[in-house]
Amino acid sequence: MPARVKLVEMGARDGLQNEPGNVATQTKLDLIARLAQAGLRHIEATAFVSPKWVPQMADHDAVMRGVPRRAGVVYSALTPNLKGFEAALAAGADEVAVFGAASETFSQKNINCSIAESLQRFEAVTRAAREAGIPVRGYVSCVLGCPYEGAIAPQAVADVAAALLDQGCFEISLGDTIGVGTPGKTHAMLEAVMARVPVAQLAGHYHDTFGQALANVYASLELGVATFDSSVAGLGGCPYAPGAAGNVASEDLLYLLDGLGIETGVDLHKLAQAGDFICQALGRTTRSKVAQALAGRAVA
Ligand code: HMG
Ligand code: MG
Repeated sequence: MPARVKLVEMGARDGLQNEPGNVATQTKLDLIARLAQAGLRHIEATAFVSPKWVPQMADHDAVMRGVPRRAGVVYSALTPNLKGFEAALAAGADEVAVFGAASETFSQKNINCSIAESLQRFEAVTRAAREAGIPVRGYVSCVLGCPYEGAIAPQAVADVAAALLDQGCFEISLGDTIGVGTPGKTHAMLEAVMARVPVAQLAGHYHDTFGQALANVYASLELGVATFDSSVAGLGGCPYAPGAAGNVASEDLLYLLDGLGIETGVDLHKLAQAGDFICQALGRTTRSKVAQALAGRAVA
């Protein structure tokens, strides 16, 4: 088990990209400020994607420019192509992320190109980012299953992860986009990827559709993975992965890590308050079991 885990907060991006209603830019900025106050040091703030494809992220420029900066916090954004990268750079993103998939069909549905074409686009982003001194994260989606193709071979995940590493991505985040994985499958997928990418450069990004995300985190911890993505209040889903639930809730992940004595630098109560804030703004109840328990009993 790692002694320390890096948490990458997805609430403002993955968390809000699938919301049915419009979320005010100011609400996003207030959420991000609260997440930083809770001690999160890596916050994915928005996505420089096409507003026609994901209207919820159309205010990417205003979010990245308006975010109240806190020292030591990295504010990052998704950038699918050079156009997105240039806009993110101009708006002041500290870090960017390219996002590919281990499934051909999902790649087409999500970013309108094949896996091979996506890697060519990402090459342009990673080259420009290197020149600008901006670190690039790489995502691989559908690592444990695809909404269109079903099962995905671990080898297909390893191939895309290795290609992103070769391009200079400093970290590869492995996305169970539709949350269908179980610990045994997670273990097998990670073993295939770890043969090509050092575990220190891997992150787990598990959606919780079938309630397995925390179990998949635990299986990953056992293999030495020390970076995890999560969304406050368990918000989120992908507009191009129908039926997928949100990421593992940040509060639930933190409760697990705190219980294991793994250091994160994040305060559970402040994090739960950030979750309350966004749930009230969205008019919905939290998907975090830990936040529900804290609200009901005020202990722990
Ligand atoms: P396309 O239609 O093939 O792009 O979309 P295009 O290059 O032909 O351009 C078409 C139009 O989009 C043009 O505008 C471009 O200017 C504009 P028009 O001339 O029609 O007015 N455009 C852009 N606008 C803003 N920012 C940009 C940009 N690029 C082109 N960067 C594209 C290709 C990739 C743009 C599109 O498919 C897209 O935006 N997809 C994003 C989908 C998305 O955001 N999905 C959710 C995030 S991924 C995810 O959630 C998974 C993850 O969480 C991990 C996991 O869970 O597995 C990361
Ligand atoms: Mg996701």
